[in-house]
Amino acid sequence: MKKLKIVIAGGGSTYTPGIISALLSHIDRFPMEEIRLYDNDSKRNEDMQLIIEQLLKEQNHPEIKLIAEENPKAAFVGADFIFSQIRVGGLEMREQDEKIPLKYGLVGQETCGLGGFAYGLRSIKGILEIVSYVQEYAPNAWILNYTNPETLVGEAIRRVYPGIKMINVCDMTISIEETIAENYHYDRKNWVPTYFGLNHYGWYTEIYDKSLQRDVMPEIINKMREKTMGVAEFNEGDQTWAEAFKMMSTIVEYFPDYIPNNYLEYYLFPDLVVEKTNKDYTRANMVMEGREKNTKEMARKIRAGETENVLNFNFGEHGNYIVDIATSLLNDEHRRFMVITPNRGSIPNLREDAVVEVPAYIGATGVEPIALDSINDFHKGLMEAQVAAEKLLVDAYFEQSYQKALQAFTLNQSVNSAYVAKQVLDEMIEVNKEYWPQLN
Ligand code: NAD
Ligand code: G6P
Ligand code: MN
Repeated sequence: MKKLKIVIAGGGSTYTPGIISALLSHIDRFPMEEIRLYDNDSKRNEDMQLIIEQLLKEQNHPEIKLIAEENPKAAFVGADFIFSQIRVGGLEMREQDEKIPLKYGLVGQETCGLGGFAYGLRSIKGILEIVSYVQEYAPNAWILNYTNPETLVGEAIRRVYPGIKMINVCDMTISIEETIAENYHYDRKNWVPTYFGLNHYGWYTEIYDKSLQRDVMPEIINKMREKTMGVAEFNEGDQTWAEAFKMMSTIVEYFPDYIPNNYLEYYLFPDLVVEKTNKDYTRANMVMEGREKNTKEMARKIRAGETENVLNFNFGEHGNYIVDIATSLLNDEHRRFMVITPNRGSIPNLREDAVVEVPAYIGATGVEPIALDSINDFHKGLMEAQVAAEKLLVDAYFEQSYQKALQAFTLNQSVNSAYVAKQVLDEMIEVNKEYWPQLN
């Protein structure tokens, strides 16, 4: 089997060790000769290089060459696979995305609501840049993307690079499934889940269990209504995730037909969410003081020569999920995953050009989304409004249109006032000067 050259775009990301660990544990199905960390922040990239060097040493992989590069040509030329996970503006800007809407009584979140829209206008530029490098220096490579906000990134890419070898995925469905399975004692390996929606905005319609030979979703919903879920092992001690999974019971209490994606709390119960959020200390602060600090600390220790038991991270299924997708693609395994992709009829009564999240089989030619049943008016209405808002935002990016941005902000399903939407937009424009296109 040909040995692969892989690039991690956003090499300095706190998620890089999880992806590399997963790659190493699948090395028989995904042989590598070279790992390149590409990041536009050389300090973060060098820290990560130390951590990954240590990981390769501990796992005994001297045959894999490791480099850290700021130069796009050197990073991408001749690459076979690109794993992309950039965060344009870093966690400092995530903090702004979360805190500004909260000041105005709106949801302040990384990927949902107006925070997600602000992040989107930063991310699109960064991801288009990465894709342009891949087109130039490694036109045959596959890009597997985790960069958020995924629907907006997917929409921008769909417009500029239709037919590109790129797969957008999110680890949330697999985390939800793992959490459900751990809480209610199922073996997720036996599941064939069916799901539809937009990214961080969708519903399960069935969870077929192959060993039990039935759809277990109705009984899971009953269990969720009887007893709220705790976090799975990989989220141990994380209060934010504990609350998010608990909230899923409230959602099924109101709407017991399907299992929701936990992120729907931001659209169905924005008022409850805002009420319980600390406006001065948000998730970005927790991540900076948690995962990010931990990464810096690992690098500092290695630099100081303290390499004994220095590596500590637990990313659950995050790394495995994207690596399973990569192996399914490389080895034409035709396994089933949730992907974020242009609809093209997968949800028959939703516009074809919506970027949706649906199950798909993945093989050598890429994704083959499955044909789902028509969806009902409740979910369709919610999704259509949100799709329109997202399309308007991407229009605003390409047309540099203030008016389109204002329409997008107003139509976002976590917002109910143009007056408030405009105030948030105007403040966001100020703080994002360095990152957003100028809106006229
Ligand atoms: P992070 O800030 O720790 O890491 C991101 C890295 O990207 C940083 O080192 C930064 O310097 C680099 N970067 C920023 N802009 C860049 C550019 N234009 N070119 C090259 N490098 C650039 O963030 P994180 O918390 O590790 O998250 C990384 C990304 O993964 C985010 O987009 C996050 O939303 C996403 N994510 C997605 C999922 C999912 O399910 N889709 C899950 C987890 C994380
Ligand atoms: C889940 C979502 C990602 C999101 C992440 C945030 O994994 O699927 O899209 O980026 O959570 O986690 P964090 O710990 O950074 O808040
Ligand atoms: Mn996600």
